Amino acid sequence: MLTTAWTRRHVISLADFLPEDYDTILQTAASFSEVLTRRNKKVPTLQGQVVTNLFFEPSTRTRSSFELAAKRLSADTLNFSPGSSSLSKGETILDTAKTYLAMGTDIMVIRHKQAGVPQAIANEMERLGTNVRVLNAGDGQHEHPSQALLDLYTICSLLDPKNPRVDLLQGQKIAIVGDILHSRVARSNIWSLTAAGAEVHLAGPPTLLPQHFKEYAQASQQNELELERKLYVHWQLEPALENADFVMTLRLQHERMAQHLLPSLREYHQRFGITRDRLKLCKPHVKVLHPGPVNRGVELNSDLMDDPELSLIPQQVSNGVAVRMALLYLLGGGR
Ligand code: NCD
Repeated sequence: MLTTAWTRRHVISLADFLPEDYDTILQTAASFSEVLTRRNKKVPTLQGQVVTNLFFEPSTRTRSSFELAAKRLSADTLNFSPGSSSLSKGETILDTAKTYLAMGTDIMVIRHKQAGVPQAIANEMERLGTNVRVLNAGDGQHEHPSQALLDLYTICSLLDPKNPRVDLLQGQKIAIVGDILHSRVARSNIWSLTAAGAEVHLAGPPTLLPQHFKEYAQASQQNELELERKLYVHWQLEPALENADFVMTLRLQHERMAQHLLPSLREYHQRFGITRDRLKLCKPHVKVLHPGPVNRGVELNSDLMDDPELSLIPQQVSNGVAVRMALLYLLGGGR
């Protein structure tokens, strides 16, 4: 296993991640991907450490993926789900976190519908003088770093399976399509993909891709890290798809219909749904990603999702375990 200069205590946001941070994660994940092909898929790295999944919001793949990653690293795992917990008896989130701290938790993996909760828990853990590390597993509309990192790994390991690294993304065009406004996946991916040097094209209807993303794009070009970020905003699908190497589709959140942000799902599909025909605008080798869960036939045609020539969705899910192992390993001290 490589020795790294990893110094981050928590992973809450990717906004200040540099290309070298991504390369460390990609290389570490590649080693764990190799471990996951062996007959014995377990390594003793986190033996004796406790990883607690604090999921205050529903999740299928992210929670299971973190749990399996922790188990593959031989950590002891605890799972909190709000329905069956003392939250329903009025316990506060910070008190819940402190309960798991008292049980000896070393790493907390946190998902909450409110942006900022993982940061608040990380602050509290530091204030209390503990050594607990916090991983954001999705907070409101803010960020979902492990999803963006597994997306990055999926793309880079397709481009060079032996040596996935960020410089492979120089000059690659990546379209992110759909409900950008509500998507923490999009926000994290914007940071990682632009830092890696990809050209990122956002596409969606104005109600789901508001004007301020243009300012976000401009602001992000003169960011403090002095990375030249290439980010473009389109209210039509076609300019984003033209010559794209990868198309990342996002879940259209049905619940937003109630807020009249969309005329109808049918109309959305007509204008922004990804179909085989529309993919002809892209490079011939184009691949489609989706973080899941997918609304079949809305953001993505059902048959595309199941086409192994086009869809990277199963790889995203499997790579998620290796990438989360890498994150837990790096935060856990990399021993
Ligand atoms: C996403 C999430 O929860 O942010 N899913 C995921 O983690 N794979 C996207 C979504 O809910 O649409």
